Amino acid sequence: MENGNTPQLIRERLNIVDIIGERIPLEKKGKNFFGVCPFHDDTSPSLCVSAEKQIYTCFSCHATGNIFSFIMDYEHINFVETLKYLGEKAGIDTNNIHIKSTNNKYQKYYDIYDFTLKYFQNNLQSEVGIAAKKYLAERKIDETIIKEFQIGLSLKNKDDLTKVLTVKNYDLVDLNKIGLSNDSHDIYSNRIMFPLYDINGKVVAFSGRLYNDDKNNKYVNTKETPIFKKGECLYHYHIAKEEARIKKNVIIMEGFMDVIRASTIGIKNTIALMGTALTKEQIKLIKRLSNNIILCLDGDEPGRKASLNIGNIFLKENIEVKIITLPNDDDPDSFILKEGKESFLAYLENALNFGDYKIKAMRENVNFNSVEETSNYINSVIEEISSIDDPIRTEIILKKLAKDFNIGYNTLEKKFLNLRGELQKTTQPRISKLKEKVQKNKYQKAVEQIIYFMLTNEWVITEVTRTNLLITEENYRILIREICYYYETFGKVTIADMITYLNDKEKPLITLKEIINNIYQDQVDKETLYLYFKVISDDNISRQIKVLERKLKDELDPVKQAQTAEEIRRLRIGE
Ligand code: CTP
Ligand code: MN
Repeated sequence: MENGNTPQLIRERLNIVDIIGERIPLEKKGKNFFGVCPFHDDTSPSLCVSAEKQIYTCFSCHATGNIFSFIMDYEHINFVETLKYLGEKAGIDTNNIHIKSTNNKYQKYYDIYDFTLKYFQNNLQSEVGIAAKKYLAERKIDETIIKEFQIGLSLKNKDDLTKVLTVKNYDLVDLNKIGLSNDSHDIYSNRIMFPLYDINGKVVAFSGRLYNDDKNNKYVNTKETPIFKKGECLYHYHIAKEEARIKKNVIIMEGFMDVIRASTIGIKNTIALMGTALTKEQIKLIKRLSNNIILCLDGDEPGRKASLNIGNIFLKENIEVKIITLPNDDDPDSFILKEGKESFLAYLENALNFGDYKIKAMRENVNFNSVEETSNYINSVIEEISSIDDPIRTEIILKKLAKDFNIGYNTLEKKFLNLRGELQKTTQPRISKLKEKVQKNKYQKAVEQIIYFMLTNEWVITEVTRTNLLITEENYRILIREICYYYETFGKVTIADMITYLNDKEKPLITLKEIINNIYQDQVDKETLYLYFKVISDDNISRQIKVLERKLKDELDPVKQAQTAEEIRRLRIGE
């Protein structure tokens, strides 16, 4: 990394409490601030932000870092982008900084996808694309949409793309790895190609749709690859990110065709689930977009079932959910095509609050001529609303039930209050389970404490260098070397700065993070420090003795035996 001082300068001008506080609510307790950690699934405040050290640590998932790592992980942007963003906040010019992008591990794969995207787009625009264009036109996908969503075409011959890419010197092994080829054959042939984007808008996969027959699989999607994680895939996320902020909500649909169609009528705060069951990662990503979610799934039975399931999941996450129920044989795509923009906007306007939707859904298929079915229905509605934390709404629902079924309000309320009482007993605040930490032995603890002292008391660095402390474990040795180097180069060192400096050095960064998580002492005097040094030298000696003892056992020559025995004796008495 060049310009090592710029990140430090930016960091010193900003306060981590403000930066994190803009994103998640923080509460001051003693010296530190606490909030709900955004990096794991939780509702209790396990994230601790230290104003003094300018770092954060999660007691539950052990996420730790400084402002830079927080923004990178929270906003899913790379180091350079983070530096620019925070630099602007700090009023520090970052335009002239040339830092090697740290996210370039897979740059080659992204390049291949970029090339392939252009290639597919070209195919569609050429002679061979006429039939596909005709199909798209029939589906009311015009040239503007084709451009905007970068739609393309794969060709009929089954090794066409693979040939083009290998001529460009891309390795077949890579093409297989990233889901474009299978041996030397193409994965996609004669399909309309829709690029799939990661959350930052990079093309990382394709979904290929049939257009001239409906025999085989309608869609073929890229397999899971190093750059395409299916469980994290949400179509259109990179656009919805900005739009959701403006519209203050996000609309979830099933398929990317739905999202594309909505976009044509100016609704762009949309994402598509792409047909898979909602994963934990997707939930986390969606939570980041907005706390107001509108589900607009297909109008059919599976779509309705999915609305209930997904609604319940978000309800548990304390996220406001509304549901749009389209006519039975429509999805957003077909609905908008048939009924037009104004009708869709009206459906959007009248989206039902999830609680009300559930109660309405319960009514379906109940035979109200049957006393048993009716009372089951009433009981399940009461059960449902007993978890609603809004006395006005619950009263309205109970009154309506009383009127509809001609039952005394008091009877219903009594049942409601009983259920609520039971519910409150069983929902004690959840104590988050701590992730297991690796147990450290005495030697490791001593080394880690010394490293921590180096970062909190600069004079310790001088002592460590002067003593020539022999550290046997490579991970620690490397980290110590990095700390000394940083100190020599920039004249000072803190934990927060070390985190940024180690940004592209995976191993020492992991070691540093483990140390931060183990909560060591800050302050030390010389005498105490030397006690820690002694733990390390004692450990070295006992290690040497063990080696010699083994040698002694195998030694046949009596003279050499005696020499080794003497060496062991000297080590034991500390000479
Ligand atoms: N899907 C898939 N493979 C299939 C069917 C569906 O991967 N055989 C995924 C696609 O990502 C699709 C989503 O599930 O976008 C929703 O499926 P569906 O409703 O069938 O797709 P539509 O959007 O209706 O597609 P089309 O209108 O082109 O038929
Ligand atoms: Mn559909």
